[in-house]
Amino acid sequence: MIEIKNLKKRYGERTVLDIPSLSIADGETLALAGANGSGKTTLLKILGGIIKTSEGSFTSSERILYMPQNSYAFRGDLIRNILIGGADRSKALGLLEKFELSHLAEKKAKSLSGGELQRLSLCRVLSKECNLLLLDEPTSACDAQGAELVIKAIKDYRESCGCTVIMSTHSPLLAVNAADRLIILNSGKIEADGSPEEILANPWTQWAKSFAAGWKI
Ligand SMILES: Nc1ncnc2c1ncn2[C@@H]1O[C@H](COP(=O)(O)OP(=O)(O)OP(=O)(O)O)[C@@H](O)[C@H]1O
Ligand SMILES: [Mg+2]
Repeated sequence: MIEIKNLKKRYGERTVLDIPSLSIADGETLALAGANGSGKTTLLKILGGIIKTSEGSFTSSERILYMPQNSYAFRGDLIRNILIGGADRSKALGLLEKFELSHLAEKKAKSLSGGELQRLSLCRVLSKECNLLLLDEPTSACDAQGAELVIKAIKDYRESCGCTVIMSTHSPLLAVNAADRLIILNSGKIEADGSPEEILANPWTQWAKSFAAGWKI
């Protein structure tokens, strides 16, 4: 269980995240939505221990895996890029197959397209086990087929290791198909919290209603 209490993040005078109270159960898959600058990445980075809070506290998890919003490649081919994370070769090859990247396995990772690179980043992250998986917009660069692969891979991974998943997204498809819970952030505050279907059908506030209107799939 992750328990957040009175969490605030400020940059100078500006408060970019303000969450009085939030509990996330073990094994839950939570999607974080909200406009650009609403605080999604900030919350993921705080939970991942990458940046500090300005105020408040949260309970941390033992083994955390974090995929940043901007995918990156190390030198060398795709296999090396996954092995760098500590996986064995057969696991790396299995993941490349799962993400339909096998035909590129021995190509330079730095030459990949944006969507291919994002899938490679996921291979690297999902090559390890964890208790808490933090994914910052895991389908942002993917086409429809790529997004489906990612959704399936996230679900399979959660089933196999039982971890908690928190992912930010601008994709209703990802939230509805992969998450049991959706939180919408508005200027750093929780504007809505519930099952994706519930929130999209009955938004809590006028603001959430207009957000949800743009989220119909
Ligand atoms: N290091 C920093 N210094 C100052 N302001 C920052 C810093 N990092 C983030 N911010 C501000 O905090 C706010 C929240 O940023 P965050 O990256 O969490 O947004 P986001 O919801 O992930 O947006 P996006 O959908 O564009 O990825 C933004 O207004 C951003 O400008
Ligand atoms: Mg972000």
